[in-house]
Amino acid sequence: MSSLYQQVAEEIAQRIATGMYVPGERLPGVRGHAQNRKVSVATAVAAYQVLVDAGYIEARPRSGFYVRARQPIQAIEAEPAAIANPPRLVTGQAMAMALIKAANDPAIVQLGAAVPDPAFLPTQAIGRALARVVRTRRAETAGYMMPPGAPELRRQIARRMSETGGAVSADDIVITTGCQEALSLALRAVTVPGDVVAVESPAFYGLLHVMESLGLEALEIPAHPREGLALDALAFALDRWPVKACVVSPNFSNPLGCRMPDENKRALVRLLGKHRIPLIEDDVYGDLGFAPQRPSTCKGLAPHADILYCSSFSKTLAPGLRIGWIAATGERRERIEYLKYVTSIASPTVPQLAVADLLGTGRYERYLREVRGRYASAVARMSDAVMKSFPEETRISQPQGGFVLWLELPEGTDSFALARRALCKGVSIAPGPLFSASGKFGNFIRLSSARVWDARMERALVELAKLI
Ligand SMILES: Cc1ncc(COP(=O)(O)O)c(C=O)c1O
Repeated sequence: MSSLYQQVAEEIAQRIATGMYVPGERLPGVRGHAQNRKVSVATAVAAYQVLVDAGYIEARPRSGFYVRARQPIQAIEAEPAAIANPPRLVTGQAMAMALIKAANDPAIVQLGAAVPDPAFLPTQAIGRALARVVRTRRAETAGYMMPPGAPELRRQIARRMSETGGAVSADDIVITTGCQEALSLALRAVTVPGDVVAVESPAFYGLLHVMESLGLEALEIPAHPREGLALDALAFALDRWPVKACVVSPNFSNPLGCRMPDENKRALVRLLGKHRIPLIEDDVYGDLGFAPQRPSTCKGLAPHADILYCSSFSKTLAPGLRIGWIAATGERRERIEYLKYVTSIASPTVPQLAVADLLGTGRYERYLREVRGRYASAVARMSDAVMKSFPEETRISQPQGGFVLWLELPEGTDSFALARRALCKGVSIAPGPLFSASGKFGNFIRLSSARVWDARMERALVELAKLI
């Protein structure tokens, strides 16, 4: 975790990124800030210096510190929402494997995969929890932790979920190997090959991979860049096609980073309920909003609706732990437990116990408070750099959480060709068509900003701008 002055700087950067402090506004004086935040003046000075160096604020002689103007953002515009293309089998996702393999190569500047750099993760706390578990619970760690998974982990997850909206019982939770497995089990629980599944467009490509492997057809529903899934387009599509499930990320979807307003979440649940279609809710980014209040979930707003809630600790604690879960009730939960068992018997025991241990210490909440600000500033910084160096016609998403940016490049740009050429130059990016079952978004790319900002990263963005 970062030191105190960095934490203070991140908090202020978060306020700037979320508009609490606006360009041109004077920040509280160093002494005043130190007093309010209960830190030493030296810490406040160091924090302000970090923000000056990062370009967030400027010192005006004999006047104080002021928020600097950001690069004006050209925001991505909404697609016409009422149009939904017919469902189609998901194919052609093999290209994504090159990108996924590039994520293992330390020589490549990783802007492609949405995997946080370890510098953003609480690796020390995780290491301590792993060591504690192995030391104190040796016999247990050698055995299977059969589905539904470690009781203390399920209890901790249920407690957190209840605090953030929905009253969920530990008995309704099944531990999975990451959110990807959760999505796969959820889809298998409610569909058979050939079924039609409604997805957001653009959608997380891992979901499309799972659907390809299960022989499912994707019905792409446009997503609004700020409000998420277009409900009128979904309503139009549900009247025309035999949809068997709907997968949505209402909080900080990947790649748009947008958040559905609560009234839209409620309307989504009502609409699906009317058609008796289960909702698979992917909330993997839900803890990473830039605003202080954790957003609600569909599961929390409608605890008795037919919702299979999927999430994991991959974006917050560490993807390598591979700990995710599904919250579902009744027959759905029983089916998922069975599918989990036939797929991999159980998820590894040590990470399950270590995550339960870490959640029990309260460190997770403290870490989240800090890292949300860091992601807000990383996203703001990368969008500034993109607006400064990319062609003028570039349009960019304005995420409200998470750490990815979705970019619309000048018309005619071939983002696959761009990704190949960028990889030759040591930079990975995610080309837009990966996020669509029908190859849409040919001139879009997704960039991950969860990297330490350094000269290599700056050079990578300049290199990309040149290639475009
Ligand atoms: C929206 C979304 N869902 C699910 C996943 C998969 O998460 P996990 O690594 O926990 O399997 C990801 C990972 O990128 C994601 O972005």
